Amino acid sequence: MLQDQFNRTVKYLRVSVTDRCDFRCVYCMAEEMQFVPREQLLTLEELNDITRAFVELGVNKVRVTGGEPLVRRDIDQLFASLGQLQGLDELTLTTNGSQLPKYADKLVKAGVKRINISLDSLDKALFKELTRTGNLDHVLAGIDSAIDAGLKVKLNSVVLKNRNVDEVTALVDYAVTKKIDISFIEEMPLGAIAEHARDEEFISSEELRKIIEEKYQLTKLETDNSNAGPSKYWAIAQKSSIDSDVATATPTQSRVGFISPHSDNFCSTCNRVRLTATGQLLLCLGNEHSVDLKAVVRNYPKDTQRLKQTIIDAMGIKPERHYFELSDEPEILRFMNTTGG
Ligand code: GTP
Ligand code: 5AD
Ligand code: SF4
Repeated sequence: MLQDQFNRTVKYLRVSVTDRCDFRCVYCMAEEMQFVPREQLLTLEELNDITRAFVELGVNKVRVTGGEPLVRRDIDQLFASLGQLQGLDELTLTTNGSQLPKYADKLVKAGVKRINISLDSLDKALFKELTRTGNLDHVLAGIDSAIDAGLKVKLNSVVLKNRNVDEVTALVDYAVTKKIDISFIEEMPLGAIAEHARDEEFISSEELRKIIEEKYQLTKLETDNSNAGPSKYWAIAQKSSIDSDVATATPTQSRVGFISPHSDNFCSTCNRVRLTATGQLLLCLGNEHSVDLKAVVRNYPKDTQRLKQTIIDAMGIKPERHYFELSDEPEILRFMNTTGG
């Protein structure tokens, strides 16, 4: 078992397979990005070997992330091999959705059951502004192909106060129509961006709840600690158009979640670590603590014992919590596309 010095057990590995992406979301990347040269990336075989070591050490959930994971060449082969790992209960991914028409069926075949898709606006022009290069129609087609393939979909929306707050209710409407869940995320100060001042764009989860409650009735759900995710969920019921009495609200099949790294710290139940595409093991999203696993797999190929011992020892430096300041100078210079969310 992987245990840290604060008695947290690590059972969840997030694996970033590339820092590249076909989008350039304004909160995630600078307009001009330098991506890692391909030769510095872990190979698909190395990604598989490191993930297997984690699973043998008790990790039972693996989320593949990026950048955009589905732009990595031959990514379906990695999913196929990870899907075979004994002891892995859940193999999943977080994606921008653009490549799902091509990959949804292959993911299902590999054993993926649930996926998270980012969607910050349903307005074509605003979507383009926020992603700089994204096409809303491609993403909506991607969401439909995931649902059609039988995947359980959750949406993720990062909300910026002066950009897409007006989209929040429409996004909930969309989730309700599609019978899927949606989570709203407070922006985190990861990497230096020029587009906006992060503190000016902050809007708390509580304020978002109030906006949603103008149209829907929300009922807080007990936190499902089985996966200790950062999202806190509310059930959504449709208020009657005649009056907004509790008794007349009709339940929907969707839940709304809020990921509130600023207004509701969730680090005490953190069960996750991250592997970057260049083989750095990050012990926390909001701290720099890391261990170089690429050096181990390259210097001692197939020495599984050494790899596992390095991973066990790394747990000793997992920080207790993150401290995010929304000032203009981010403490964490790493962009989210390096970390994988
Ligand atoms: P579930 O498995 O559905 O619970 O998903 P998840 O929340 O673990 O994964 P997802 O990729 O949907 O994460 C959504 C966002 O939550 C990430 O992009 C981050 O913005 C945020 N998040 C996830 N894990 C952490 C964490 O350990 N610390 C902080 N500060 N934020 C996190
Ligand atoms: N703060 C919060 N969430 C972010 N994401 C990317 N950058 C940030 C940030 N600075 C989210 C994306 C996606 C997930 C991978 O991370 O919207 O849902
Ligand atoms: Fe790409 Fe996701 Fe970053 Fe947007 S948030 S640029 S889709 S990695």
